[in-house]
Amino acid sequence: MSNDLFTPIRLGRTELQNRIVMAPLTRNRAAMPGNVPQDINVTYYTQRATAGLLIAEATPISPMAHGYPATPGIHTAEQVAGWNKVVAAVHAKGGKIYLQLWHVGRISHPSLLPDNAIPVAPSAIKPAGQAYTFTGLQDFVTPRALGLDEIPALLEDYRRAAELALEAGFDGVEVHAANGYLIDQFLRDGTNQRQDQYGGSIANRSRLLLEVVATVSKVWGADRVGVRLSPINQFNDIRDSNPQALFNHVVEVLAPFKLAYLHVVEIGMSNDAPQAFDFNELRRAWQGNYMANGGYDKARGNAAIASGHAECVAYGVPFIANPDLVERFLADAPLNVPDQSSFYGGTEQGYTDYPRLT
Ligand code: PHB
Repeated sequence: MSNDLFTPIRLGRTELQNRIVMAPLTRNRAAMPGNVPQDINVTYYTQRATAGLLIAEATPISPMAHGYPATPGIHTAEQVAGWNKVVAAVHAKGGKIYLQLWHVGRISHPSLLPDNAIPVAPSAIKPAGQAYTFTGLQDFVTPRALGLDEIPALLEDYRRAAELALEAGFDGVEVHAANGYLIDQFLRDGTNQRQDQYGGSIANRSRLLLEVVATVSKVWGADRVGVRLSPINQFNDIRDSNPQALFNHVVEVLAPFKLAYLHVVEIGMSNDAPQAFDFNELRRAWQGNYMANGGYDKARGNAAIASGHAECVAYGVPFIANPDLVERFLADAPLNVPDQSSFYGGTEQGYTDYPRLT
C-alpha cells in the first residue's frame, strides 16, 4: 500500500504521527502591548494538536521585523514565557510545533515600528498598496535600504530569535522566505537592486537566505530547521523576472544543509496573472522532505503523497475552521465553512469556537 496523509513520517529530528501539517497563519491575537502569546492562543493551538506538525504563525524576530498589529513576537522574555505555555500544552496533547521566524522588511509602516522608524528593505523601493496599522489601512512608505554594515546585526537578530525559540521549547523553526517579506525581497530582482554582494546575480540575491539558514541551523541543527518559499506568489507586490531560475538555484544551494523540510507555497495569493513555473522540476531538484501547500484538499493531498510529489501537505484555511481537521479527513466528514471576517484580529469568535465533530 502506498503512503498517504495518515502515514507517520520523520522530518529531520521530528517524528510526525501523520503528514497533515497546519500551515503558519497570521491571526493577530497576541496580547497588547508587548505582542505576547496569551491564553486564547494556547487554546487555539492545543485544539489543533492532532496535526502531524503545527507551524505556529509568522513571528517577528525583532521590533523592526513587525508589520501588522497584534502579531506575537520572539524577541522578549515575556514572549518566550507566552510561547512556552503554547508549546507545553501542545506537547501535553502529543503534538509537535515549529515556530516560523519572520521579518516583514518593507511590508510595514512607521506607526508599527520603534520610534516611528522607516521600514528596512534590500532597496528603497516602495511597495504598491497599504499597510494594516492600528488606525486602519495606510499607504506603504518608501523603505530604507539596509546598509552592508547592518547585515551582521540582522543575522544576530535571527540568531537571538532562534535561541529564544529553543528556550521556549519548540520542536524546530521555519525560516520564512516567502510571500514578499524581507528574505523574499532580497531574493527577487523586482525588489533587490543592490550593487553589493547581496544583489545582482541570483547567487548574490540568495546570499541573505543562506546566511540566515546557516545562522539558525547553528543554533538548532539543520535537521530541526525548515524553509518556506513561494515561487509564484506576487502577494505584497513582489516580482521576479525569472522565478524558475531563481528558485532552482535556491533549492540547489539549500540542499547541502540537509534541512528538516522544504515548504513550498505552490499558488499565488494576489490577483495577478500567475507566472509559469514547474513545481515538479523544483521537487526533482530537492532530495529532502517536500511540504506542499496551497489549495490542497484531502484527495489532492493523498495524491501528492502517493505520486511522490510531496512527503507531507500543509493546510491553512481548512485548519482555521476545523480544529479537528485530521479526524474529519479520517472520517471523510464535512468541513466547517471558514468565516473570513474573523481571520485577522478579534476575540475567541472565529478563533477558538469552531465546533468539532461530535
Ligand atoms: C498576512 O498577514 O496576510 C500574511 C502574513 C504572513 C504571510 C502571508 C500573509 O506569509
